[in-house]
Amino acid sequence: MEGAQIMSARIEPITPALGAYVRLAPEDAVKVGAPAQILEALNRHHVLVFPQVGMNDDIFLQLTAALGDRHDNTVTDDGSAASGKGIFRIARDKDDRTQGEFIRANDYWHMDGMNYPGPVKATLLKCESAPKEGGDTGFANLHAAYEALPEETRRLVDGLKVGHCVSASLRRLYDEPTAEDFVRWDAVFPRMVRPLVWKQACGRTSLLIGSTANDIVGMNEADGRALLDELLDWCTQDRFTYRHEWQDGDLVIFNNPALLHRSYPYPDGAGRVMHRTTLKGHETFDPATTAAPAAADLY
Ligand code: OGA
Ligand code: MN
Repeated sequence: MEGAQIMSARIEPITPALGAYVRLAPEDAVKVGAPAQILEALNRHHVLVFPQVGMNDDIFLQLTAALGDRHDNTVTDDGSAASGKGIFRIARDKDDRTQGEFIRANDYWHMDGMNYPGPVKATLLKCESAPKEGGDTGFANLHAAYEALPEETRRLVDGLKVGHCVSASLRRLYDEPTAEDFVRWDAVFPRMVRPLVWKQACGRTSLLIGSTANDIVGMNEADGRALLDELLDWCTQDRFTYRHEWQDGDLVIFNNPALLHRSYPYPDGAGRVMHRTTLKGHETFDPATTAAPAAADLY
């Protein structure tokens, strides 16, 4: 079968915990059979790196469509050609009209789609222009981190609930956020309660923590914060993480519900430009959740 040949022997694990390089020509990624194999590899390795594959936007969109149901990114329209096609452009150039503060807050560990009933299934990032300085992207394997938790901690976190909101993340960008800032943020992603220990339908378990985690329900603020910080430190240990240093033309696809991810700081003038698409999730955080999808698809 042609599809079987496309991917076999072209997948090379990066670290024991996560990540694999996939080496193929851009057009081969959308050939019959290839997308299914990419999804299978994504489920196994969680972060797929296509080094310098140099995929154009049209194939990027075809691949996105072949992997799932793409979010409509028109709300982040910045007037660029890519954005007109439904691609979200991540950049900090001065004239950009995308949501700058959301992009800056990518520097904190997070999961995409925490404001949806379930998280983004996968995020695709294509490097149009690699940063001259800084700007790596980090990934942490939550399944592995949860599995390795001491039994005592597992018992402690079992059944706890976490309040998530985007203000928990964005307020860190400002010395003194104003009431208007909170109104703006709450309009996108007001506080929503999620399980701390999220048992996915696929049988795996993730911890729903990261920058949007605000508080633990029923715990005082300081104790809740301390537990969230401790869990974040645990999950982002070197042994559970992979840090990608970008080169022009790289494509990275990541299995968002299995991971926390972040960018590492880079100056505005670093020339870093990414094209991004996201796939709608299938799994809900909690079958009882009724939260409607919010306006922006950034968290
Ligand atoms: C994202 C994200 C990080 C980066 O696109 O969801 O968090 O390194 N990006 O740009
Ligand atoms: Mn993200």
